[in-house]
Amino acid sequence: ASYKILLLPGDGIGPEVAHEAEKVLAWFGRAGLGTFETETDLVGGAAIDAHGVPLTEAALGLAKAADAVLFGAVGGPKWAGVPYAVRPEAGLLRLRKDLGLFANLRPAICYPALAAASSLKPELVEGLDLMIVRELTGGVYFGEPKEIVTLEDGQRRAVDTQIYTTGEIERIAAVAFDLARKRRNKVASAEKHNVMKSGVLWKDVVTRLHAEHYADVGLEHVLADNCAMQLVRNPKQYDVVVTDNLFGDILSDVAAMLTGSLGMLPSASLGAVENGTRRALYEPVHGSAPDIAGQNAANPLAMIGSLAMALRYSFGLSDAADRLDAAITRTLAGGTRTRDIAGTGVNAVGTGEMGDAIIRELEAP
Ligand code: NAI
Ligand code: MG
Repeated sequence: ASYKILLLPGDGIGPEVAHEAEKVLAWFGRAGLGTFETETDLVGGAAIDAHGVPLTEAALGLAKAADAVLFGAVGGPKWAGVPYAVRPEAGLLRLRKDLGLFANLRPAICYPALAAASSLKPELVEGLDLMIVRELTGGVYFGEPKEIVTLEDGQRRAVDTQIYTTGEIERIAAVAFDLARKRRNKVASAEKHNVMKSGVLWKDVVTRLHAEHYADVGLEHVLADNCAMQLVRNPKQYDVVVTDNLFGDILSDVAAMLTGSLGMLPSASLGAVENGTRRALYEPVHGSAPDIAGQNAANPLAMIGSLAMALRYSFGLSDAADRLDAAITRTLAGGTRTRDIAGTGVNAVGTGEMGDAIIRELEAP
C-alpha cells in the first residue's frame, strides 16, 4: 500500500532528528514494507523567515491531504521578538486546531538498558510500557468565560471554565479503548468526580460507553490525584490511562520522568476519522533545543519512536512498528548512546550515528 507523509522538520534540532526519521522511513520503503510518498515543508521559525507566517495555507493543505504528519520541533531565541499571534508555536497550534487533533497519546516506555537512569528505582520501571491518552482540545484550557475581572472592592478575580460535553468524552474514551485492545486490554480513566461536575459526567460517559461497546476491555476509574501517586508508586499497574486536558498535561509529564530523557519521548495527536483515515500528527515531546542545535548531539529516538507510532496507528503496519521498536531496544542494549543518555564515562555517538545504528539493527535478521 501507499502512504502519504508530510514532513515538517521545523527549527533547531527539529531538522536534525527529522532527517534520521526520514532515513528510517526510506529503509522501510527499500525493504518493501510500503510505498511512502513524502513531502517536506517549512513550519515555525523557518516558515516565518521564508513567508512571514509560522504555517502557510499551502503547508496546511498538504497536512490535510497527508495520511500522517511527522513534525520535528519549532521555536528558538531568534524568533523571541515576533508578534505573539505569529510566533513559531502558533504553527503547531494551528495544525492541532485545523486537523481537529483531540487525542494526545504519550507513551512512557522504559527500555531495560536505561532503567538505571529513571527517577524511580530501576525495578519499578524496567519494562514499563504505558500510554497516557490526554484530551487535547477541550476542558479548562479553552472553556469560556476565561478572564480576569476587577471587583468593586479592587480585588481582581480570575476565571477559567472546565467544560466537557458527552461527545467530547465519548470520542477520547473510544480512542483509549481501541488502543487498549491492541495492547494489554486495560484502561484506567482518571478524573475527580468527588469534587467536579465534569468528573461526574466523565465517569458516567466512560462507564456507559464501556458497557455498550467495550465490555471486553478492563476498566478502572481512578481519582486523578491518586493516579499521580500510583504512577510514581507502581507505574507498571497501568496499560492505557485516559484523562482530560489539564490532568493529562500533568500526568503525562509525571509519566515522562519515569523513563529518563526528553530525547526518548515520542507522541501522537489523533483527530477525527475522515474518508476512512484518522487525521494524525506525530512529534517528539521535546522542543527545538537551541542549546545543542547544529552540534550533531540531539537524540533522534523520540522522533524515530514517533515514526514507529505512525507506522502502527496511521498505517496499520504493526509488524514494521514492532520491528522498529525492537531495533531501538537492541540498539540501546548494545550500548549505543547519544550524549543525553550516555551518563558519565560512556562515549556518546552523534545524531546521525544513532540513526545509522537503528538502521543496522533493522537490517539484522
Ligand atoms: P527543549 O525540549 O527544546 O529542551 C529542553 C532540554 O532538553 C535542553 O537542554 C535540550 O538540549 C534537551 N533536549 C531536548 N530534546 C533533546 C534531544 N532530542 N536530545 C538531547 N537533548 C534534548 O525545551 P526548551 O529548552 O524549553 O525550549 C526550546 C525551544 O523549543 C523554545 O523555543 C520552546 O518554545 C520550543 N518548544 C517547542 C516544542 C514543540 O515544537 N512542540 C515543545 C517544547 C518547546
Ligand atoms: Mg506540559
